[in-house]
Amino acid sequence: MRVAIVGATGAVGHELLRVLEQSTLNFDELQLYASPRSAGRTLTFAGRELSVQATPEGAIDADVILASAGGSISKALAPAWVEGGAVVIDNSSAFRYDPEVPLVVPEVNGDAALAHRGIIANPNCTTAIAAVAVAPLHRAFGVRRMIVSTYQATSGAGQKGMDELLTQTHRVLHGQKAGAEVFAYPIPFNVIPQIDAFGENGYTREEMKVVWETRKIIGDESLRISCTAVRIPTLRTHAEAITLELERPATPEQARELLRAAAGVEVRDDPASQLYPMPLTATGKYDVEVGRIRSSLVFEGGLDLFVAGDQLLKGAALNAVQIAEYLQQRGALRGRVAG
Ligand SMILES: NC(=O)c1ccc[n+]([C@@H]2O[C@H](COP(=O)([O-])OP(=O)(O)OC[C@H]3O[C@@H](n4cnc5c(N)ncnc54)[C@H](OP(=O)(O)O)[C@@H]3O)[C@@H](O)[C@H]2O)c1
Repeated sequence: MRVAIVGATGAVGHELLRVLEQSTLNFDELQLYASPRSAGRTLTFAGRELSVQATPEGAIDADVILASAGGSISKALAPAWVEGGAVVIDNSSAFRYDPEVPLVVPEVNGDAALAHRGIIANPNCTTAIAAVAVAPLHRAFGVRRMIVSTYQATSGAGQKGMDELLTQTHRVLHGQKAGAEVFAYPIPFNVIPQIDAFGENGYTREEMKVVWETRKIIGDESLRISCTAVRIPTLRTHAEAITLELERPATPEQARELLRAAAGVEVRDDPASQLYPMPLTATGKYDVEVGRIRSSLVFEGGLDLFVAGDQLLKGAALNAVQIAEYLQQRGALRGRVAG
């Protein structure tokens, strides 16, 4: 069983290495690929130094390819990887809206992964985090409408996003003017209500990803969703305020009880002791923190909640590895299973 990471030197690639070290996935060999710029670099995996290779133009001799080198690389090369016999778990948005490609959060729709034809898409990070919290509530109470406002970390734009926050903050603290290359405006001490490009309807592509992808993962095209996506000056972990209109009324206590039993969720909700979800506490955690659960003042019987999830983990690397584990546990991965 051979695993390859394409994009191993990036923000998601770094987390893939760490998550694979902890995972239950059985594999014998790990290959690392990135751009030609990184060829010859070494990265540590389980105490060993592994060498990074330039991504070849054609097939890669691996059973599972975890792709995190961006949409254009996935679009150009994934068909050849599949042709070469690999199952591709893709972190980019290249195939998410292809009806033949399953879009999977294992806790929500793991079985969809079993119907793959070589490529499985990993959802947008904001969507994956929300889906873990909202899907159990949808199953129990039927979500009719969902309004999301996001507070998204700079690492959502990759390593260069984090670098820009740190270098520009340093500049401001030393009396210099902050610039902006990755983001539309200087990010230190600011919030920017734009992630990705604006569409004709006035929503950004990031906001529409939440709409399209949540419906596909939850499997309900009738779900009404609206999102406002905002970049904030944190390093990692996306937070989201979510309002739900429900078909069957729910109390906050019912929601807490349900979410305490839900996979991938940590209920962190005790206002009396100031316990609620935050990037500070959710960073590095596999579970998505959910708290501030209260009855909506707008939708009768509806709920307001706040979630925080490490988007480099559940929103990317962890979810991808969990998909591979899910397939292997069900004997649905080619390659020899070690042990
Ligand atoms: N950051 C997130 O929160 C997040 C969450 C979910 C999904 N994603 C998606 O995951 C993907 C990677 O994101 P990231 O945040 O890890 O980006 P990143 O930090 O910018 O890393 C990009 C990776 O792609 C490699 N790469 C760039 N050009 C390449 C080429 N021509 N051939 C082969 N490899 C190439 C880079 O290698 P070099 O180091 O050699 O340049 C690097 O390893 C994107 O599709 C992104 O949308 C990101």
